Amino acid sequence: MANTNKPVILVLNGPNLNMLGKREPEVYGSTTLDEINEGLITQAEELGLEVQCFQSNSEGALVTRIQEAFQNVDGIIINPAAYTHTSVAIRDALLLHDVPIIELHLSNVYKREEFRHKSFVSGVATAQMAGFGAMGYNMALQAMADMVKGG
Ligand code: DQA
Repeated sequence: MANTNKPVILVLNGPNLNMLGKREPEVYGSTTLDEINEGLITQAEELGLEVQCFQSNSEGALVTRIQEAFQNVDGIIINPAAYTHTSVAIRDALLLHDVPIIELHLSNVYKREEFRHKSFVSGVATAQMAGFGAMGYNMALQAMADMVKGG
């Protein structure tokens, strides 16, 4: 368990998600990543959780952050973005963890190109969500609160 009074939830975002709001808004919406993270911090306070938000365009940096979280977090919400479809390294890093993992996508990847239908992460995730847009992050945090509190 994490060394804090409140359960700690790590929220990870992969490549190009720092460009939310500008990037293909017809697919990903107009909400920026900063706005998503600020909303999660507020929601976490209401739920009695602590959230730690991290975004990187680099696969290695994401792997390192997942390793650093080992035995230091109580749950992981991850939108691996394009690495979803390519990264054995992120999958292997997630396998370190014995905490709930929610894989999240803003868009409904199954409605899109075939290459987005394959996820290396889904096989190691507790649950997967896709297609709810920015609201999906709040839904995932609510679900995570129930998972970590045994609700
Ligand atoms: C995404 C879907 C991925 O296929 C894509 O590469 C992304 C974002 C989503 O949130 O819908 O960058 O993970």
